[in-house]
Amino acid sequence: MAKYESTGNNSNETAKMPAKWLNSNQIDFRQEVIYFLIVDRFHDGSADEEERKGIWDRGKKTGLLDKTWMDWGKYWGGNIAGVIEKIDYLKSMGVSALWLSPLFEQVDDMQFDRAPMHGYWTKDFKRINPRFVDIEDSCSLDQCQTLKKLVEKLHEAGIKLVLDIVCNHSSPDINGSKGVVYSDGNLLADYNNDEQNFYHHYPEITDWEDEFQLIHHEMCGLATFNENNINYRNYIKNAVKHWLDIGVDALRVDTIKHMPLTFWQEFCSDICAHKPDLFIFGEYGFSKPWDQRAVNYANHSGMSILDFGLCDGIRFAFSGAEPGGFYQIKRVLSYDKEYKRASQLVTFIDNHDMPRFLSIVSNEEHLRLAISILMTLRGVPCLFYGTEQSLHCDINGGADPYNRPMMESWNSSHPNYMLIQVLANLRKVNPALSMGSFEERFITKDIYVYSRHYRNNHVLVCINKSKSTSIDVQNTGLPDGELKCSLSHKTISISNNGIQGLQLDENEAHIFSILGEPVSGKVVGVFELNGYETKPGETLFITGSAEELGNWDATKAFGMEYVNDNTWIAEVGFDVSAEQQIRYKFMVMMNGSVKTVENILPRVVQLPNSDRINIDTIWNQIS
Ligand code: NOJ
Repeated sequence: MAKYESTGNNSNETAKMPAKWLNSNQIDFRQEVIYFLIVDRFHDGSADEEERKGIWDRGKKTGLLDKTWMDWGKYWGGNIAGVIEKIDYLKSMGVSALWLSPLFEQVDDMQFDRAPMHGYWTKDFKRINPRFVDIEDSCSLDQCQTLKKLVEKLHEAGIKLVLDIVCNHSSPDINGSKGVVYSDGNLLADYNNDEQNFYHHYPEITDWEDEFQLIHHEMCGLATFNENNINYRNYIKNAVKHWLDIGVDALRVDTIKHMPLTFWQEFCSDICAHKPDLFIFGEYGFSKPWDQRAVNYANHSGMSILDFGLCDGIRFAFSGAEPGGFYQIKRVLSYDKEYKRASQLVTFIDNHDMPRFLSIVSNEEHLRLAISILMTLRGVPCLFYGTEQSLHCDINGGADPYNRPMMESWNSSHPNYMLIQVLANLRKVNPALSMGSFEERFITKDIYVYSRHYRNNHVLVCINKSKSTSIDVQNTGLPDGELKCSLSHKTISISNNGIQGLQLDENEAHIFSILGEPVSGKVVGVFELNGYETKPGETLFITGSAEELGNWDATKAFGMEYVNDNTWIAEVGFDVSAEQQIRYKFMVMMNGSVKTVENILPRVVQLPNSDRINIDTIWNQIS
C-alpha cells in the first residue's frame, strides 16, 4: 500500500520564502505547476438553465453539441464559466499556471464526425470561441467580458493563464471550404481563393525526414500558412500581442516543428519585446533529446519545448519497455546537456494526443509514483486534467478521442489530488526542485533514489515500484541528521552522508526536503549561464565591476551553482550595488586557478533599487 497522507501546506516550509516572491510575477517559471485542460471537457458553468441542458446551442450551427457525452466527436458543453467555477479547486491543489486548449473562434462545422472542440481549427485568431463564452457576450477580444473575468479571477488566485496558440495552420477542408480566416470578423484569407498568398499549397506530408515537406506540406489536410508572407506574420503576431494585452501570461505553441526555426526566432523575439520575460513553450511533436533538429528548436527558437523524451522515459519505466524500469528515465536524463536549458523544459506524463497514463499502466499506485517523479525532476511539470482524479477511458486503448473524457469528479481527498498538493507546495518553496542539480544515488529497474540540490536546499527522492524492500544508500549528498518524509511522515537518519536500511514498502515514495536560507539583498539577481559544457574539475564564477562580484578580483568572484553539464546558476544578493549599472563576465576556474574568462566585452546590466531579476545568458567566446 502506498502512503499518501496529506500534509497540506507545510507552513514551516513556506515561512522561509519571502512572501513577496510567492504568488508574484517575479517567481521563476520553473517554480510553477502547470495544469492543462480541454475547455470543452472540463466543466459547464452556464448560468442559463436551457443552455446547460443543451437546448441552447451557443454556436451558430446546431448539431455540434452533445450534452449526453456519448458522441466523442462533438462539443460536450464545457466553457470558461466552468473553468472559473473551478479555480478554487485548482488553486488548492497547487496549480499555479493554467494552460487552456485554444480559445480562438473555430470553424463551426464537423469533418469526419468531429467538431473542433479541441480548438486547433481556427477561423479567427482575434475572436474567442462563442461556445466558450457566456450567452449574449461579445466574442471580440476587447469586449469579451467572460475572458476578462477569467483573467481577473485567475490572477486574484495567483494563477497564470497560458494561451495555446497555433501559427502553423488554420482549418481543413469541410464541405469544400478550407482555411477561411478572419481578423475580428473581417475576411482575411481563403485557401481556395488565395489572392493574398496566405497559404502554402502543397500536398500532405509523405516523407517525415524531408525538411521541405515538414515545413511546406500539410499535416492532416490542415491549410498551412505561408510564413514567407509578411502580412500573415504581422496578422498572427498582432493577434497574439492582443491576447497578451488582455492578460495572458505565457504561451504554449502548437506544431512548432512544421515552421522554420527562423520564423520562431522572429516571432519569439517580437512577442517577448512586447511582453518581456514571457515564458513560451512549444510542441515539437514527439521530440527526443537525441534528435538534433528537435534540440535545435529547443535551443535556438527563443522558446522552450514540451519534453516528450522524458514523458516516454517515465511511461516506459512503468510499462515494461526495455531497457527495463528506471533505466528508461536515466537514459533520457543523460542527454540533458544537449539542451541549453534543460531545467526549463515542460515535463508531463500524458496529454491530449496520447493515451492517458492509466490506459497504458493500469495501476493507480504506479500513477502516483509517476506523479512523484514528474514533480521532483528538472523542468516545469504539467499535469493533464483529471490525472488528480484518475480520470481515464480505455476504449481503443485510451487513444484520441477517448483520452479526452468529461471531468466528472472534484474530490479534493483523492490521493492523487493530495499528493499533487504536497508536491506542488514543495516545488514552490524548495528551489532544489525548480532550479537545482540532479544526482542519481541508487538505481535498479524498480528502485530509483536521486537527490536535487540548489545552494543549501536539498531534496532526496526514493521511489520503489515493486515489492517491499530495504536498501543502503551510501552517498546521499545531504547533511547528516534526522529527516521526515513529506509524504508519509516517516523519519530517516542520515549519518556519514549515507542511510542504512532505508525501508521502502511496496509502491512507496519517500521525499525528504531540507530548506536553506534564501539569499537576501535589496536586489537579488539570478544569473543563469547556459551553453558552457563543463569538464570534470571545472567550476564557474561571475567576476565583475560590483563589490558583490569582487570588483574584477578573480579571488573574490562569485561562485555559481552547478545545475547540469551545460547550466550554472548564481543567485547574488546586491546591496551596495543596487541601482547601479554593473559589468560582468563569466569565468571558469580549475583547481583554484582561473582557466578561462569570457573573451568578450563585459556584459552590462542595470540593477533596480529593489526586486528579483532573472538574467538568462549563453556562454560567449570568440573562437
Ligand atoms: C498538436 C496538438 O496537440 C494536436 O492536438 C492537434 O490536433 C495538432 N497539433 C494540430 O493542431
